[in-house]
Amino acid sequence: MGETKRAFVVVGHTQPTTPDFTLNDLPGGAGRLDVLARCVTSAFCVSHGLRTDVEVFLVVRDQVVIRFEGAHLKRLNPDERSTAALIKHALAALRADPHAGRARSTPGVSARFGTLKSVLEELRARGFTLYVLDERGRDVRAVELGEPVAFVLSDHRNFTPDEEVLLQALKLPKLSVGPVVLHADQCIVLVHNELDRRAARRGVQ
Ligand SMILES: C[S@@+](CC[C@H](N)C(=O)[O-])C[C@H]1O[C@@H](n2cnc3c(N)ncnc32)[C@H](O)[C@@H]1O
Repeated sequence: MGETKRAFVVVGHTQPTTPDFTLNDLPGGAGRLDVLARCVTSAFCVSHGLRTDVEVFLVVRDQVVIRFEGAHLKRLNPDERSTAALIKHALAALRADPHAGRARSTPGVSARFGTLKSVLEELRARGFTLYVLDERGRDVRAVELGEPVAFVLSDHRNFTPDEEVLLQALKLPKLSVGPVVLHADQCIVLVHNELDRRAARRGVQ
Protein backbone atom coordinates (compact mmCIF):
# COMPACT_ATOMS: atom_id res chain seq x y z
CA MET A 1 0.00 0.00 0.00
CA GLY A 2 1.41 3.41 -1.01
CA GLU A 3 1.70 6.27 1.43
CA THR A 4 -0.31 9.39 0.75
CA LYS A 5 1.50 11.94 -1.40
CA ARG A 6 -1.40 14.17 -2.42
CA ALA A 7 -4.47 15.25 -0.48
CA PHE A 8 -7.46 17.36 -1.45
CA VAL A 9 -9.64 19.12 1.11
CA VAL A 10 -12.96 20.10 -0.42
CA VAL A 11 -15.11 22.51 1.58
CA GLY A 12 -18.82 21.82 1.14
CA HIS A 13 -21.31 24.51 2.15
CA THR A 14 -24.74 23.17 1.25
CA GLN A 15 -24.58 19.37 1.41
CA PRO A 16 -26.30 17.25 4.06
CA THR A 17 -24.55 16.15 7.27
CA THR A 18 -27.03 13.31 7.80
CA PRO A 19 -27.97 10.42 5.47
CA ASP A 20 -31.54 11.69 5.08
CA PHE A 21 -31.44 12.37 1.37
CA THR A 22 -32.27 10.51 -1.80
CA LEU A 23 -29.64 9.49 -4.32
CA ASN A 24 -32.17 10.39 -7.02
CA ASP A 25 -31.71 14.16 -6.61
CA LEU A 26 -28.06 14.94 -5.81
CA PRO A 27 -28.02 18.48 -7.28
CA GLY A 28 -31.34 19.49 -5.68
CA GLY A 29 -32.56 17.74 -2.54
CA ALA A 30 -29.02 16.65 -1.61
CA GLY A 31 -27.70 20.23 -1.78
CA ARG A 32 -25.19 19.84 -4.64
CA LEU A 33 -23.75 16.61 -3.32
CA ASP A 34 -23.00 15.91 -6.98
CA VAL A 35 -20.18 18.48 -6.76
CA LEU A 36 -18.48 16.65 -3.89
CA ALA A 37 -19.01 13.25 -5.53
CA ARG A 38 -17.29 14.48 -8.70
CA CYS A 39 -14.38 15.78 -6.64
CA VAL A 40 -13.92 12.33 -5.10
CA THR A 41 -13.98 10.49 -8.43
CA SER A 42 -11.67 13.05 -10.05
CA ALA A 43 -9.20 12.66 -7.19
CA PHE A 44 -9.04 8.86 -7.36
CA CYS A 45 -10.28 7.46 -10.66
CA VAL A 46 -7.93 6.82 -13.55
CA SER A 47 -8.56 4.57 -16.50
CA HIS A 48 -8.90 1.03 -15.14
CA GLY A 49 -7.97 1.84 -11.58
CA LEU A 50 -7.69 4.08 -8.53
CA ARG A 51 -4.84 6.24 -7.32
CA THR A 52 -3.63 4.70 -4.07
CA ASP A 53 -1.44 7.62 -2.92
CA VAL A 54 -4.29 10.14 -2.56
CA GLU A 55 -6.60 11.17 0.28
CA VAL A 56 -9.70 13.33 0.07
CA PHE A 57 -11.37 15.13 2.94
CA LEU A 58 -14.89 16.45 2.39
CA VAL A 59 -15.61 19.06 5.05
CA VAL A 60 -19.38 19.50 5.11
CA ARG A 61 -20.79 22.68 6.70
CA ASP A 62 -17.75 22.78 9.00
CA GLN A 63 -19.37 20.02 11.04
CA VAL A 64 -18.67 16.66 9.44
CA VAL A 65 -15.54 15.35 7.72
CA ILE A 66 -15.74 12.41 5.31
CA ARG A 67 -12.34 10.93 4.56
CA PHE A 68 -11.41 8.76 1.57
CA GLU A 69 -8.05 6.94 1.76
CA GLY A 70 -6.75 5.67 -1.56
CA ALA A 71 -4.56 3.04 0.08
CA HIS A 72 -7.64 1.22 1.40
CA LEU A 73 -10.38 2.36 -0.97
CA LYS A 74 -12.66 -0.20 -2.57
CA ARG A 75 -16.01 0.02 -4.33
CA LEU A 76 -15.37 3.48 -5.77
CA ASN A 77 -16.71 3.77 -9.29
CA PRO A 78 -16.52 6.74 -11.65
CA ASP A 79 -20.21 7.64 -11.47
CA GLU A 80 -21.64 10.26 -9.11
CA ARG A 81 -24.50 8.20 -7.77
CA SER A 82 -22.45 5.31 -6.39
CA THR A 83 -19.94 7.77 -4.91
CA ALA A 84 -22.79 9.63 -3.23
CA ALA A 85 -23.95 6.26 -1.89
CA LEU A 86 -20.53 5.80 -0.21
CA ILE A 87 -20.95 9.25 1.37
CA LYS A 88 -24.45 8.36 2.52
CA HIS A 89 -23.16 5.11 4.12
CA ALA A 90 -20.45 7.06 5.93
CA LEU A 91 -22.97 9.59 7.27
CA ALA A 92 -25.28 6.77 8.36
CA ALA A 93 -22.43 5.04 10.23
CA LEU A 94 -21.56 8.29 12.00
CA ARG A 95 -25.17 8.89 13.02
CA ALA A 96 -25.61 5.27 14.19
CA ASP A 97 -23.24 5.97 17.09
CA PRO A 98 -22.92 9.75 17.38
CA HIS A 99 -21.23 9.58 20.79
CA ALA A 100 -18.28 7.77 19.23
CA GLY A 101 -17.70 10.88 17.10
CA ARG A 102 -16.24 8.88 14.21
CA ALA A 103 -17.09 5.79 12.19
CA ARG A 104 -15.67 3.63 9.44
CA SER A 105 -18.13 2.56 6.79
CA THR A 106 -16.99 0.95 3.53
CA PRO A 107 -13.26 0.16 2.97
CA GLY A 108 -11.21 3.36 2.87
CA VAL A 109 -14.12 5.61 3.82
CA SER A 110 -14.78 7.10 7.25
CA ALA A 111 -16.69 10.00 8.77
CA ARG A 112 -16.20 12.07 11.89
CA PHE A 113 -17.42 15.24 13.48
CA GLY A 114 -14.83 17.90 12.68
CA THR A 115 -14.01 21.25 11.16
CA LEU A 116 -11.87 22.65 8.36
CA LYS A 117 -9.41 23.88 10.99
CA SER A 118 -9.06 20.40 12.49
CA VAL A 119 -8.38 18.83 9.07
CA LEU A 120 -5.75 21.41 8.15
CA GLU A 121 -4.04 21.03 11.53
CA GLU A 122 -4.03 17.25 11.13
CA LEU A 123 -2.46 17.46 7.67
CA ARG A 124 0.18 19.92 8.87
CA ALA A 125 1.02 17.64 11.79
CA ARG A 126 1.46 14.79 9.28
CA GLY A 127 3.99 16.87 7.33
CA PHE A 128 1.85 18.05 4.42
CA THR A 129 2.55 21.41 2.79
CA LEU A 130 -0.80 23.13 2.35
CA TYR A 131 -2.02 25.34 -0.49
CA VAL A 132 -5.33 26.97 -1.34
CA LEU A 133 -6.54 26.68 -4.92
CA ASP A 134 -7.65 30.10 -6.11
CA GLU A 135 -7.82 31.51 -9.61
CA ARG A 136 -6.12 34.71 -8.34
CA GLY A 137 -3.21 32.74 -6.91
CA ARG A 138 0.29 32.13 -8.24
CA ASP A 139 0.51 29.95 -11.33
CA VAL A 140 1.01 26.37 -10.12
CA ARG A 141 3.46 25.83 -13.00
CA ALA A 142 5.83 28.39 -11.46
CA VAL A 143 5.93 26.72 -8.05
CA GLU A 144 8.08 23.86 -6.77
CA LEU A 145 5.84 21.35 -5.02
CA GLY A 146 7.20 18.77 -2.64
CA GLU A 147 5.40 15.77 -1.18
CA PRO A 148 3.24 15.22 0.71
CA VAL A 149 1.17 18.13 -0.48
CA ALA A 150 -2.44 19.12 0.18
CA PHE A 151 -4.76 21.47 -1.70
CA VAL A 152 -7.82 23.18 -0.25
CA LEU A 153 -10.68 24.14 -2.53
CA SER A 154 -14.28 25.16 -2.24
CA ASP A 155 -17.38 23.55 -3.75
CA HIS A 156 -19.73 25.55 -6.03
CA ARG A 157 -19.70 28.46 -3.55
CA ASN A 158 -16.91 30.80 -2.55
CA PHE A 159 -15.14 30.29 0.77
CA THR A 160 -17.09 32.02 3.54
CA PRO A 161 -15.55 35.07 5.27
CA ASP A 162 -14.78 32.88 8.31
CA GLU A 163 -13.02 30.32 6.12
CA GLU A 164 -11.03 33.09 4.40
CA VAL A 165 -9.94 34.36 7.81
CA LEU A 166 -8.81 30.86 8.82
CA LEU A 167 -6.89 30.29 5.57
CA GLN A 168 -5.17 33.66 5.95
CA ALA A 169 -4.35 33.01 9.61
CA LEU A 170 -2.69 29.74 8.59
CA LYS A 171 -0.80 31.64 5.88
CA LEU A 172 -1.64 29.16 3.14
CA PRO A 173 -0.26 30.27 -0.25
CA LYS A 174 -2.77 30.53 -3.10
CA LEU A 175 -2.15 28.63 -6.32
CA SER A 176 -3.95 29.01 -9.62
CA VAL A 177 -4.38 26.26 -12.21
CA GLY A 178 -5.21 28.82 -14.90
CA PRO A 179 -6.95 32.12 -15.62
CA VAL A 180 -10.47 30.70 -15.98
CA VAL A 181 -12.67 29.92 -12.95
CA LEU A 182 -13.30 26.19 -13.13
CA HIS A 183 -15.37 23.62 -11.28
CA ALA A 184 -13.67 22.13 -8.25
CA ASP A 185 -13.38 18.65 -9.79
CA GLN A 186 -11.75 20.14 -12.89
CA CYS A 187 -9.13 21.83 -10.70
CA ILE A 188 -8.32 18.48 -9.06
CA VAL A 189 -7.73 16.87 -12.46
CA LEU A 190 -5.43 19.71 -13.49
CA VAL A 191 -3.42 19.52 -10.26
CA HIS A 192 -3.00 15.77 -10.71
CA ASN A 193 -1.92 16.31 -14.30
CA GLU A 194 0.68 18.87 -13.28
CA LEU A 195 2.07 16.59 -10.58
CA ASP A 196 1.91 13.51 -12.85
CA ARG A 197 4.01 15.33 -15.46
CA ARG A 198 6.59 16.30 -12.88
CA ALA A 199 6.73 12.76 -11.51
CA ALA A 200 7.15 11.39 -15.04
CA ARG A 201 10.03 13.78 -15.67
CA ARG A 202 11.67 12.47 -12.50
CA GLY A 203 11.07 8.91 -13.69
CA VAL A 204 8.57 8.18 -10.91
CA GLN A 205 5.49 6.15 -11.83
C1 LIG B 1 -16.68 26.82 -8.80
S1 LIG B 1 -15.35 27.52 -7.90
C2 LIG B 1 -16.17 28.40 -6.58
C3 LIG B 1 -16.99 29.54 -7.04
C4 LIG B 1 -16.21 30.53 -7.89
N1 LIG B 1 -15.39 31.38 -7.05
C5 LIG B 1 -17.09 31.34 -8.80
O1 LIG B 1 -17.02 32.55 -8.73
O2 LIG B 1 -17.85 30.76 -9.56
C6 LIG B 1 -14.72 26.13 -7.01
C7 LIG B 1 -13.34 26.22 -6.45
O3 LIG B 1 -12.41 25.77 -7.41
C8 LIG B 1 -11.19 26.44 -7.22
N2 LIG B 1 -10.85 27.10 -8.49
C9 LIG B 1 -11.68 27.41 -9.51
N3 LIG B 1 -11.00 27.90 -10.55
C10 LIG B 1 -9.69 27.89 -10.19
C11 LIG B 1 -8.48 28.26 -10.86
N4 LIG B 1 -8.48 28.74 -12.09
N5 LIG B 1 -7.31 28.09 -10.19
C12 LIG B 1 -7.30 27.57 -8.93
N6 LIG B 1 -8.42 27.21 -8.26
C13 LIG B 1 -9.60 27.37 -8.88
C14 LIG B 1 -11.34 27.40 -6.05
O4 LIG B 1 -10.89 26.75 -4.87
C15 LIG B 1 -12.83 27.58 -6.02
O5 LIG B 1 -13.27 27.91 -4.73
